[in-house]
Amino acid sequence: MSNQNLNARPRRNRKSSVIRNLCRETRLVTESLIYPVFVHEKEKNESIESMPGCTRWSLNDLLNEISEAHELGIGAIALFPAIDSNLKSPNAEESFNDSGLIPKSIRAIKNSFPELAVITDVALDPYNSDGHDGLVDQTGKVLNDETVAILIKQALCHASAGADIVAPSDMMDGRVGAIRQELDANSFTDVSILSYSAKYASGYYGPFRGALNSEPKSGDKKTYQMDPANAKEALREVILDIEEGADMVMVKPAGPYLDVLAKISNNVKVPVAAYQVSGEYLMIESASAAGWIDRQTVVMESLTGIHRAGASAILTYYAKSVAEWLK
Ligand code: PBG
Repeated sequence: MSNQNLNARPRRNRKSSVIRNLCRETRLVTESLIYPVFVHEKEKNESIESMPGCTRWSLNDLLNEISEAHELGIGAIALFPAIDSNLKSPNAEESFNDSGLIPKSIRAIKNSFPELAVITDVALDPYNSDGHDGLVDQTGKVLNDETVAILIKQALCHASAGADIVAPSDMMDGRVGAIRQELDANSFTDVSILSYSAKYASGYYGPFRGALNSEPKSGDKKTYQMDPANAKEALREVILDIEEGADMVMVKPAGPYLDVLAKISNNVKVPVAAYQVSGEYLMIESASAAGWIDRQTVVMESLTGIHRAGASAILTYYAKSVAEWLK
């Protein structure tokens, strides 16, 4: 067959690895990754049944794990506590206990790794006996302003212990502004707020709730987390959070919401983060364990997609593996 008469042959830009490198539009780098880690009060580590490959660390072993991550070039961690069930209460008082698990962990981590950025989750679900991100009244309603009054204490408690970034993941209205005011009033003007602004009511969080034993005791999270059908509303949430003082905003989950991520990153002037959540992790883990997909290829592809869609920072349980692969 004779040559087609084509001026443009896009395949020329893919003809070798060297040429493909020159044409690559986005590059995933270790410095963009945030490593979410789980800590508990116990002396012994526990493997997390609902998240094979992940661990609830004792504080001591968490320091080793962080040291390894740090050596691989990971600059930031997000801390999640598995709280003893007898410390959980309807008013979640443990969430702002200065000698609680999270403040203790922050101090130990910052003491050993002062330059590592420590990000803490601000929400009540690990501490609340109802398993909701906010306080619940007798009718089952999740209370907004009453919850915010506690979240500001929690954020202040984390900042006092040395957190670099507090990350409200609760989706209450007005919490970013209230937290900003409380931090500033206490001279923590340098502590940043990474807001989980577009956090969807998602089935992909199930494995994480197993890790913290934080499954809601009744109802679901749909009166505060967003409807998966909405994208415009995500922009509204993000704009409100920026007006209230958010330094960075987040989309969560990441993979199923790449359109939302792109829309936000094209429309706002603050950095946008994305969270590849437990269910996304588990889908890749289970399919690759069954031999159905190639783990490394799919992990890198999923994270590249999230980066390409507009995330400058990505929370992923694969942070350490990716850092190793990128070496
Ligand atoms: C709780 C919180 C959740 C996650 C991060 N912070 C769960 C939820 O909202 O129910 C999910 C993370 C994951 O699934 O990996 N405020």
